[in-house]
Amino acid sequence: VNPARLAARFGTPAYVYDLARIRAAHTDLRAALPEPSSLYYSLKANPHPRLIEELAGAGCLAEASSPGEVDAALAAGLAPGDVLLTGPGKSEAVVRHALRRGVTRYSVDSPVDLRRVGALAAEHGVAARCLLRVNADEPVPGMGLAMTGTASQFGADASWVLREPYLFRGHAGARVVGLHLFMGTNLLDEDTLLAQFEVGTALAATLGPRLGALQEVDLGGGFGTPFARAGRRPVFRTLAARLSRLLDDRLPGWRRGEPRISFESGRYLTGSSGTLLAQVVDVKRSKGELFVILDTGVHHLGGMSGLRRLPPASVQLEPVETRPGEPVEWTAVGPLCTPLDALNRNLSLPEPLVGDLVTVPNVGAYGLTASLIDFLGHLPPVEVFHDGGRVVAASRRQSAHLPQPELLPRPA
Ligand SMILES: Cc1ncc(COP(=O)(O)O)c(C=O)c1O
Repeated sequence: VNPARLAARFGTPAYVYDLARIRAAHTDLRAALPEPSSLYYSLKANPHPRLIEELAGAGCLAEASSPGEVDAALAAGLAPGDVLLTGPGKSEAVVRHALRRGVTRYSVDSPVDLRRVGALAAEHGVAARCLLRVNADEPVPGMGLAMTGTASQFGADASWVLREPYLFRGHAGARVVGLHLFMGTNLLDEDTLLAQFEVGTALAATLGPRLGALQEVDLGGGFGTPFARAGRRPVFRTLAARLSRLLDDRLPGWRRGEPRISFESGRYLTGSSGTLLAQVVDVKRSKGELFVILDTGVHHLGGMSGLRRLPPASVQLEPVETRPGEPVEWTAVGPLCTPLDALNRNLSLPEPLVGDLVTVPNVGAYGLTASLIDFLGHLPPVEVFHDGGRVVAASRRQSAHLPQPELLPRPA
C-alpha cells in the first residue's frame, strides 16, 4: 500500500495492518509447533476484532485476561469453549462475567483463585475446568523478561504444589485438569525457547502424577519478533522436531492427546503485521538541537515503556519521502505536554519537512492498546486493514475525550 495515498484517504496517525502477514506468521508458527497441539492467540497483544477474526479463522483459540477480551473473542466468532481466561487477580466480577458468557476454562494462580472460580462456577451450575499456573523453582537460562523462576505474582511456586498438592487439585465447582506454564516473552532464538519448554515439560512430568491425570499442558510460548524496529520475524525451523522429541521423552501420551499440548502467542502472530504511519507537524531547533514534532507519540505507541513492560521507547522511524542532504541528529517527539513524549532521541537522518510522512515498522502487537490512549484526549489513530494491498476495513476506537455516562447522580 502506498503510505501517501493511505494518509490522504484516512488521515494520520494511522495504524496500518496487513492481514496477509498475520496469516503468514500463523503459518510459520504452526509449522514450528509439534502436531498435534493447539494455539491460543493472546488478545493482550492486540484485541482488534479484525485481527482476532483472522486468527480465529486460521484455527487459533483465545487467551483472554479481562471481560473486554472475553467479549472481543466471542464477538470475533469464537465459541466460549475456545476461550481460556488467565491472569492473576481475577476478581469475582471478572469470573462472573466470563461464566455468564459461557466460559468454563480458567487458568488459576493460587488456592484462593481456584476456590473463588469453583464457588462461582458452582453457583452458576457449571464445573470449571482449570489449568494450574505454575512458577518454576529455577529461572530458565537466557531469558530476558522472565515470568517464572523468580519471585512473582504469577502462578504457584512448583515447590509449593509439591509440598501441598491437595490445595491445588480442585473442588466440585472447579477441577484442575492441567497446567499453565507461561514463562517469558519475546524470545528470539530456538535454543532459549527450547530451554524453557524443557523446564515446562519436566514440571508437567513431575507435577502431573500429584495432581491427577493431566488433560492439557499449556507450555506457554514467548515466541519473539522485532518490536518498533526494522527486522524480520524469526522462523523457528527445527523447533517442532526438537519439541516433539522432548515431549516423547517427558509426556509419552501427548501424540494421543494425553495430555493435549497447547501454546500461547501474541506478538509473534500480530507484531509484524502493523505499521504506524504519522506526519511531521513541526520542525525546529532549540539550543542547538533539532526537534521533529509528530502527530503521534507515546499515547499511541510505547506508553507502557515507563512501566518496563516494553523496552524504553526508542522506535525506528523510517521516512516515507527521501530528503536530500547529509544525515543530521534529531529527536522525534509527539504532541503531548510532557518531555517524556519522545519516540526517539538519537535519530540520524536528513532533516524532514513539515508534512512529511514517517512510519514505524513491526508495531502490530503491543501498540495502540498498550499505550496511553486516553492521556490528553487526542483522537485515537485510525486503524486500517489491508489484505496484500487491498484495503478491507478501517475503524477508529471511540474517542477517549467524549464525556462518559456518569456512574453516580450529581449531588443536588
Ligand atoms: C500468560 C501470558 N500468555 C501470553 C502472553 C503473550 O506474550 P507474547 O505476546 O510475547 O506472545 C503473555 C504476555 O505477557 C502472558 O502473560
